[in-house]
Order: sequence, then C-alpha cells, then structure tokens
Amino acid sequence: MSKGQTSLRLDRLLANLGYGSRREIHQLAGAGLVVLDGAPLRDAGGRIAVTLDLPARMTVQGAPLDPPPGMVLMLHKPLGVTCSHKETGPLVYDLLPTRWRRRDPAISTIGRLDKETSGLLLLTDDGDVLHRVISPRSHVPKRYHVTLDRPMRGDEAAIFASGELLLEAEDKPLLPATLEVLSEREGRLTLGEGRYHQVRRMFAAVGNHVTALHRDRIGALDLPADLAAGRFQILDSASLAAVFAAAAPV
Ligand code: URA
Repeated sequence: MSKGQTSLRLDRLLANLGYGSRREIHQLAGAGLVVLDGAPLRDAGGRIAVTLDLPARMTVQGAPLDPPPGMVLMLHKPLGVTCSHKETGPLVYDLLPTRWRRRDPAISTIGRLDKETSGLLLLTDDGDVLHRVISPRSHVPKRYHVTLDRPMRGDEAAIFASGELLLEAEDKPLLPATLEVLSEREGRLTLGEGRYHQVRRMFAAVGNHVTALHRDRIGALDLPADLAAGRFQILDSASLAAVFAAAAPV
C-alpha cells in the first residue's frame, strides 16, 4: 500500500482504479452497486479505509474490487510484446484487464525485457518498489536462460565473471556476472545490473549470438512453472520479499 493512502473518498478511490468518472461513481453508488461488508455504500463522498483486504470485502457491480494502489504483479511475458506505453503493436499492458489502463497511479513495468525476450516481468503502481528494484545501487540479481547460435568457446564464464568486460560504446566495465554452462549452446546467466540489451551484447562481445532469451528469476523469485505465457499473478508479500532476498548491495 502506498504511503499516505490510508483513507480516501469512495468516489476518488474508484475513479483512481478506473471504474469511471466521479459522476459515474456517484451513480453506481446511488444505485446500490458498491457494497462493503454486505451493505451498499450509497454515499460516494464518504471516506473508506484503503486496506489490502478491501477486495475481499468490497464489490462493485457484483465483482470483487480491483486491488488497491500498491500492487505488484508478475507477468509471464510472451515473445512479441513490447514493454512500452507508447509504441504500436502488442504491448504488455494489453495483457492486463482493460480497466487497469485507466488507473492512477498508472501501472508500469519494473525495468524492461526486449520484445523478443520472454519470461518473468514485474509491474507495479508503487514508485518505491519500482525504485528499489531498478536502482543501480540495489543489484537485485536477474537470471536468464540463454540459447546461442554457436557453441561456446569455453572462456565466456571467466570473462563475464571478471568485472572487466567493456561493452561496445561504453566506458564503464560490467559488474561480475555468473554464467552456468548447461550445454554447448545453452547457459544460465545471472546479472546484478540491467544495461540496454545487456545479455545479447555480452554474448556478441565474445563472438556469439543469442537466438533465444528467457528470464526465469528475479532476486529469489522464480517464474512459476504453472504461470502460462501471457498470464499474470498479483504478488503476495512473501513473493515480494523474495524479490529483494537475494539483493547484494555493492
Ligand atoms: N538482456 C537483453 O539483451 N535483453 C533483455 O530483454 C534482457 C536482458
């Protein structure tokens, strides 16, 4: 839950969650379609304590209230969708309920995956969580399953672990990264930072080419095996704590 949002007027709460204009919310409430703990809330100007259990206690037009601000989602990002609010073509936000596009604060991805990368993507409307994950100082590790065009030569793990690899057009070497070789053309690479196209550029720097890239872990949070591509889940507090459990400040 975001700071300073312990209580809100009902019309504000529902308008911010994308249920309609404040006028429309007054109409919904007036018609008895907003129900808290079994009783209709007819006064849309009344204040509501905004707690995490509200979706279990409040219904709007018979359906449970959407999660209040402060939510974090994990999405199994499929190939071919873009982490952007603006670009044309399929966007990760198209995979969320339509009403959620009207939320204020807006939901954003926590960092990005390339259009042609699949796997674990976090989204949130909570600026503090966003900052804690993507801040260059937090070093939340992210793990990728990498498939390569050519067999590895054998020195990749040492080069990536050295803390001396310079990517083209950059002047700051990469932090040490861990490569676990799974087969000639497959590996698991764990990074403590997130530079533009980092995995693809690292393998380009050692003369190879990434043909498939999938993120399967952030911190100690694994993409659940039963979360199909294109589907999402709301993170509970234990899963959110797992994101930060493996962070290593340096
Ligand atoms: N590195 C990449 O090259 N692409 C991604 O999507 C993530 C990390």
